[in-house]
Amino acid sequence: MVSLEQVHKSYGETPVVKGLSLEVARGEMIALLGPSGCGKTTTLRIIAGLEHADAGRVHIDGALVTGQPPEARGLGMVFQSYAIWPHKTVAENVEYPLKLKGVAGREALVRQALGWVRLDALAQRMPHALSGGQLQRVALARALVASPKVLLLDEPLSNLDAALREDLRAEIAALRARLGTTMIYVTHDQNEALALADRVAVMNHGVIEQLAPPRELYESPKTPFVAAFVGGANVLEGRLDGADFVCGDRRLVLPADLERPAAARHLVIRPEALTVGDGPNELGVVASLFLGHSTEVRFDVAGHLMRALAPAHVRPKPGENVRVRIDRAQLFS
Ligand SMILES: Nc1ncnc2c1ncn2[C@@H]1O[C@H](COP(=O)(O)OP(=O)(O)OP(=O)(O)O)[C@@H](O)[C@H]1O
Ligand SMILES: [Mg+2]
Repeated sequence: MVSLEQVHKSYGETPVVKGLSLEVARGEMIALLGPSGCGKTTTLRIIAGLEHADAGRVHIDGALVTGQPPEARGLGMVFQSYAIWPHKTVAENVEYPLKLKGVAGREALVRQALGWVRLDALAQRMPHALSGGQLQRVALARALVASPKVLLLDEPLSNLDAALREDLRAEIAALRARLGTTMIYVTHDQNEALALADRVAVMNHGVIEQLAPPRELYESPKTPFVAAFVGGANVLEGRLDGADFVCGDRRLVLPADLERPAAARHLVIRPEALTVGDGPNELGVVASLFLGHSTEVRFDVAGHLMRALAPAHVRPKPGENVRVRIDRAQLFS
């Protein structure tokens, strides 16, 4: 449904998107996940036609769209900032894209779209009398009312508080199941990406470092960056010495069955893959943070911070030395 081939984009001398290729299947939901400034919004705007690529090609539904204006591409868009017209009612906002196209039978379509986002009762409200979550629902209804081929969403939930974010996240998943719309969803929130998408493209400095289904991404990250960004893994730099990993002046005993590539340079350990209170390593505690369901214990490893998730009753004190076992890890060359 959407295909990007070797797309490049620079602002002045600065390359922002560097030869990005991506194929999105019909009905698929892809998340573009990555840190601030990695080129997510720029990529989305190139697909939308709001920005022109310096090189590369974009196809939507089989057609080359280079040079086509945004309104000719059959897309719906939702932004972080809602972009709702303040002087139009909810229903008028949602009707607007249909009006532009001169579509007949608009009233029924508007009613249907408001039903999808459960705003039927608020059709005549003015935007100033709506909450943030309701405004974002209006934006969703407006983006969906003309049955777009592809829905593009740029951080649609990041202006909302945590509880509302989860509600709306579930609603987007339900809408998608119901309508089968192809979606490209930009976020820097790994939970959102993992929970919603069929496949997640992890972006870093204008390239996709890994594109994979959520589970595969989480369990088999291809680079230390992906491991650290998705799941908050600890990444330690060092080298293998015999069976152990040496990081600065620390020697870490690794799991016996760990695959040990010859030129290993990075040791990646997820916080939940460490056992605190038992094991062959002795590490100094920097901090112990009670999180309710668990305790985050922070260790110092040769000047680097290493985070472990321990059961809530485990609460070592800062300054203490504690036994630690690395249950699972990954080594990268
Ligand atoms: N119009 C512009 N002119 C110059 N530089 C720009 C322009 N738009 C974006 N950039 C730069 O391009 C880079 C990528 O921006 P982009 O908005 O795509 O990032 P992003 O991944 O969406 O980040 P965020 O998570 O903060 O929204 C950034 O360094 C940004 O400063
Ligand atoms: Mg952005």
